[in-house]
Amino acid sequence: MTFLFNSDARRGHIFQQAFARELPDISFSTDPLSVDPDAVRYLISWTVPDDLPRYRNLEVLFSIGAGIDQFDAAQIPAHVKIVRMVEDGITRMMQEYVTLGVLALHRNLPAYLSQQRRQVWNALPQVQAAERRIGVLGLGNLGKAVLERLKPFGFLLAGWSRNQRELEGVACFAGEAGLQAMLSETDILICLLPLTDETRGFLNADLFEKLPQGAGLVHAGRGPQLVSEDLLAALDSGRLADAVIDVTDPEPLPAGHPFWNHERILLTPHIASVTQPHSAARAVIDNIKRIRAGVDPLGLVDRRRGY
Ligand code: NDP
Ligand code: OXD
Repeated sequence: MTFLFNSDARRGHIFQQAFARELPDISFSTDPLSVDPDAVRYLISWTVPDDLPRYRNLEVLFSIGAGIDQFDAAQIPAHVKIVRMVEDGITRMMQEYVTLGVLALHRNLPAYLSQQRRQVWNALPQVQAAERRIGVLGLGNLGKAVLERLKPFGFLLAGWSRNQRELEGVACFAGEAGLQAMLSETDILICLLPLTDETRGFLNADLFEKLPQGAGLVHAGRGPQLVSEDLLAALDSGRLADAVIDVTDPEPLPAGHPFWNHERILLTPHIASVTQPHSAARAVIDNIKRIRAGVDPLGLVDRRRGY
């Protein structure tokens, strides 16, 4: 039985050592050309490899990242389980990034950076954390973890998901009506939704209109969820004050794109969170043990929902 690793060599080395320690009965390979394709039961990759049909006995396709939108599900046989990455390193980094973004917007960092460039020494009015309303789109692994990390600052916290959730210290909303209710009371909106047919273009003019005037946006989901022109228009009109953008469409962002030099956009190149090999190997090994024990792996994708 073989686990085929299709990602970078540094991560591969760390995975290999962990597999040798914890699952010695599974043969670990980073070389698709040297494996017996019929022995491959588990495959980890960022995209669906072209030679997927060779692995006729494949049982599980693991994503090396948290998202699975880069997989074309139509290319993956229906019996193959798809598992996204749920691991502590990704979670911790996303907590850091969103906290950075929220604090930057809360403390007017884009405006102060602009003032610095213009050599302006001017204190702006400051809202206190207890009066700042934070709303998170997506209450999955990352959304929940981010809210947990924001709690000690004393912000007013809310979150929205497809199914109604209950989280201590967080006003939880669900469905279309819930979305309207949360948006109307959100000063800083955080997007941590997966990219699906339903969430493509989700961050658009209609949604921005439902936010209070001067709200901020932290977008760390996926680029195609944001309608760039609508964000620019919302910033120009003052509907939105500032945005922290980690994901764009396309990536990399092309030269000359208006986001590059926009005074009120803090832009990062899709680095909010990155799979950490030690904790990721731990997570994948635990998931294989779960599967072998007849238990669903963490991060099992529901193909009908698309995440
Ligand atoms: P999860 O699958 O754990 O959570 C997804 C959440 O979104 C769930 O709460 C789900 O609702 C909600 N959701 C999905 N679709 C809808 C919808 N149509 N309406 C309302 N709610 C919806 O994902 P993670 O938290 O692990 O990751 C979220 C995303 O973050 C990833 O898919 C990826 O795109 C992005 N990401 C970005 C990174 C970066 O570096 N920028 C790094 C890692 C991830 P419910 O709970 O009801 O199912
Ligand atoms: C991921 C990402 O999905 O890095 O893990 O975006």
